[in-house]
Amino acid sequence: GAAACSSPGTRDGAVPESGATVPSGATVSPAAPRPGAPGIGDPDFPHDGNGGYDVGRYRLDLDYDPGRRHLSGTAAVEATATQTLTRFNLDLSGFTVGRVTVDGGRAAFERAGTELTVVPARPIPARAAFTVEVAYAGRPEPVRNSSNLGTYGFIPTKDGAFVTCEPNGARTWFPGNDHPADKARYEFEITVPEGITALANGELAAEPRTEGGKTTYLWREDHPMVTYLATMTLGKFILKEGTTASGIRNLAAVDPRFRASLDDLHRLSGEITDHWATVFGPYPFSSTGGVVDDFSAGYALENQTKPMYGGFSPGEDIIAHELAHQWFGNSLSIRRWKDLWLNEGFATYAEWLWQEHRGQATAERSFRLHYAAGPGDAIWKYAPGRARPDDLFNDSVYTRGGMTLHALRQKIGDADFFELLRTWAAENEHGHVTTEQFTALAEKISGKDLDALFDAWLFTEKKPTTW
Ligand code: ARG
Ligand code: ZN
Repeated sequence: GAAACSSPGTRDGAVPESGATVPSGATVSPAAPRPGAPGIGDPDFPHDGNGGYDVGRYRLDLDYDPGRRHLSGTAAVEATATQTLTRFNLDLSGFTVGRVTVDGGRAAFERAGTELTVVPARPIPARAAFTVEVAYAGRPEPVRNSSNLGTYGFIPTKDGAFVTCEPNGARTWFPGNDHPADKARYEFEITVPEGITALANGELAAEPRTEGGKTTYLWREDHPMVTYLATMTLGKFILKEGTTASGIRNLAAVDPRFRASLDDLHRLSGEITDHWATVFGPYPFSSTGGVVDDFSAGYALENQTKPMYGGFSPGEDIIAHELAHQWFGNSLSIRRWKDLWLNEGFATYAEWLWQEHRGQATAERSFRLHYAAGPGDAIWKYAPGRARPDDLFNDSVYTRGGMTLHALRQKIGDADFFELLRTWAAENEHGHVTTEQFTALAEKISGKDLDALFDAWLFTEKKPTTW
């Protein structure tokens, strides 16, 4: 994975990386033994993620019983220390932790809120690779709190589970570094009652094995992935497999209630994936597809390789949106939540591009329709370039974010605009991005000063009139 690991002590100049024992401003050598920070350094989400290590791979070996709503198993987290670690944290919500080991040796642990603190027998040296294994069990509980996020995380359903974790619900089913600044590869070994299908990211690495009334699925996502895109969606599903016209593996899965949507979901997911590859550049993963479950989430999520549609038959626009995220959000991931328009503004603009491609509304027409909102409209009071932690998924982040891209396209012309999208996706494939990087690349490719445009569209709490 490629976590943000800059100078010791701070990360992007934000929240101190180290424990409270380090005086602020002090320069600390990575070799100095100290606790890993309880947060990865996102000032808007100070407890999300953790400091002091970078995860390379998660190996999750999990058994779920839908009848008892009971999840049990082990998570092996393969990581590299970025400092000498006397102790470090994982994010985990609920469950009983039975045993924790570090490189096979028993480790002490403590729990407080959603932080699981691991205390290895000896400090882990800076730059050392290590594996922490956590055995845990219990009844998973999704995050239900939030005004504008609804219910997310591991959501039990009557025949299995609906698992969509943005922004920070991965901790409701496995211990990890639950923030998009740390990407990792994943292996999922999932055991469920016979007759239930387990769907996770990436591809099946072995034929499912059934024994004693239980079936085990082995899924592998070998491209870097952020925690909120990981899924283990379980239930009765009807599947359709194949490849897109350009040869990308394509798997659609629907709850039997959505049987009538299976063919369209499969065909459209394939066509749209192939189309985006001609616009944004090569598809970044090894398979595409989509999942429709019968849980009415009220949203869709761009789960890597398998977008999830919560309790509705998706139309072309939303499929175009979730598949555009495979480039913008999934391959190119944000380092800080404030930059969320780099995901949602791009995916919204992709919906307008898809309509333009299909000979429906032009992107210009979609832009004008939204620009017509009066100066008192809420969209102008929220600056999309700085997503607010208490209202992350505000319409402005989506719609005004998309309008920002159209304003840019008008200013620099189609040739530079589409070259910018492709260069952006290619240069940052499987990496992390910030708004500053995007505006710098736009200026470089166009040779224009774009400060006024980005200021007006992204950072001003009023309707842009000149740019
Ligand atoms: N990224 C998703 C989309 O735009 C939205 C996820 C919203 N998350 C939530 N917990 N409601 O399709
Ligand atoms: Zn989206």
